[in-house]
Amino acid sequence: MSYNRRKFISFMGKAGIGAVVMPQFLINCGQVTTPTNNFTKTSSKRLNELKKLTLKGLEASDKDNLLLAKGLDYHCVVKWGDKINEIDTFGFNNDFTCFIPFDDNTPKDRLLWVNHEYVNPLFVSDFNANSNAKKTKEQVDKEMYNVGGSIVRIKEENGIWSVVQNDPHNRRITAKTPIELNWDTAIKGKTTVIGTHSNCSGGITSWKTFITCEENYQDCFGETRYNNNNIATHIPSYFGWEKIYKYPPEHYGWVVEVNPKDGTIQKHIALGRFAHECCTLYELEDKRVVAYSGDDKKSEHLYKFISSKPSSLKEGTLYVADTINGKWLALDWDNHPILKDKFKDQTELLIRAREAAKLLGATELNRPEDIEIDPITGHVLVSLTNNSDKNDFHGSILKIEETNGKFDALTFKASTYKAGGEEHGFSCPDNLAFDLAGNLWLTSDMSGSSMNKEDKPYIEFKNNSLFVIPRYGKEVGKVIRVASAPRDAELTGPWFSPDGKTLFLSVQHPGEQTTDLNNPTSKWPFDNDQIPKPTVVAITGDLIEKMNKLNIIES
Ligand code: FEO
Ligand code: CA
Ligand code: CA
Repeated sequence: MSYNRRKFISFMGKAGIGAVVMPQFLINCGQVTTPTNNFTKTSSKRLNELKKLTLKGLEASDKDNLLLAKGLDYHCVVKWGDKINEIDTFGFNNDFTCFIPFDDNTPKDRLLWVNHEYVNPLFVSDFNANSNAKKTKEQVDKEMYNVGGSIVRIKEENGIWSVVQNDPHNRRITAKTPIELNWDTAIKGKTTVIGTHSNCSGGITSWKTFITCEENYQDCFGETRYNNNNIATHIPSYFGWEKIYKYPPEHYGWVVEVNPKDGTIQKHIALGRFAHECCTLYELEDKRVVAYSGDDKKSEHLYKFISSKPSSLKEGTLYVADTINGKWLALDWDNHPILKDKFKDQTELLIRAREAAKLLGATELNRPEDIEIDPITGHVLVSLTNNSDKNDFHGSILKIEETNGKFDALTFKASTYKAGGEEHGFSCPDNLAFDLAGNLWLTSDMSGSSMNKEDKPYIEFKNNSLFVIPRYGKEVGKVIRVASAPRDAELTGPWFSPDGKTLFLSVQHPGEQTTDLNNPTSKWPFDNDQIPKPTVVAITGDLIEKMNKLNIIES
């Protein structure tokens, strides 16, 4: 598909899709916009404004604060431990954020989904991982409560977003919530499993539900590993929950869908089991769905599911990428003798998707993280955060160009969009988000144990940050730092409000390296108790408004 010169950008919070490629569902999720005569007349002026824009970025900083570039300000929306209703509190380590309109006419009244990826036991359950103590059931229960996700109704008044206390929609999904499998075969004897955890990034569906992805699931209930003779062994988890609750590892590592209106929830087996960072959906004209998802583990793979029926995340085929030869390889038990030899059926293949991918010759990648579709070009961008095993310390952003621009194509071209490192001023790319004008925002995730250490390759980058790559203006294509995170923290889950005036952002794991609660490595957000708290913030200001306006037509 060749892209029309006339490009229309609309908005759906995390990414925009150009007129040629924009799926209707994403238009509906954000500001519903239809080009009008008036809109067309004003566009060239707006474009000229964007082209004149200059941006002054921040220097790298190791300060314990959320620092923002000139023209930006922030306020806290919701923090770990905040009450969201009579019984529930907001979970720990917030990551992916995502909006669904409360109804289509109320852009400032929304249901916010927030992932709670994992816990720091020192803060959450008062368990010291460095001691010889045995974790109690009560401690495991606290940890299991603080992961999963939160749904909160939020409203904006006078420029401030806040949680509507005790709204009936406010609820927690935790590692104890019963969840149905969207599959015809039971897994380890169950069709309903207990809980979700390790919820890193996510996505949104055309039918206005949230997608939350189970990433480092092995940390909670361990993993099943197979030797060359196909004999299974249990690999213990980091958190040790399986010592109290004997839930099988196979119940985790899936893409999970949540209906924000009633909290119903299901796991999509057809999308495979691995450390899903995210799931980025695209709806084709005939309503079939394409879903991209990366496996954030060293030398693992990039996957794409193509449904065979409209709006289905069950009927269809899962593919894995061979980026060397530009091919999507079908993980289809029926049609590959090599897969039939190894696995007893398609269900076992999907549970052991990593092994199946390797048998087909999928390309090892350097930890695929977030995935977004460029609204102007239709290119699929994938953060490859780093891979020390392959001496890739700074990562890169991979560009996938599907053949003829068709998202259900089975061939593509792969290249590097932008490499991390000193030259471009960022390292370890993680979350990505396109704004209304097609600027690309990205966050970095250097590990807490490596940041600001003289003997590590990250010293010059100082704290993790949020960057923007402007599509227009004097700094076009440059990587500009617009926010610097508090100490040990990572900025995650960027999502724009539908009017483009607010950027929601998670500040995850501030003070992660703390070993003594009386002397935390971070005190952000500077509450009276001086304990660092994962927090969702709203970033507003002149700079966002200038960079990020609705409804651009480029002619
Ligand atoms: Fe949870 Fe791949 O970051
Ligand atoms: Ca991530
Ligand atoms: Ca990461």
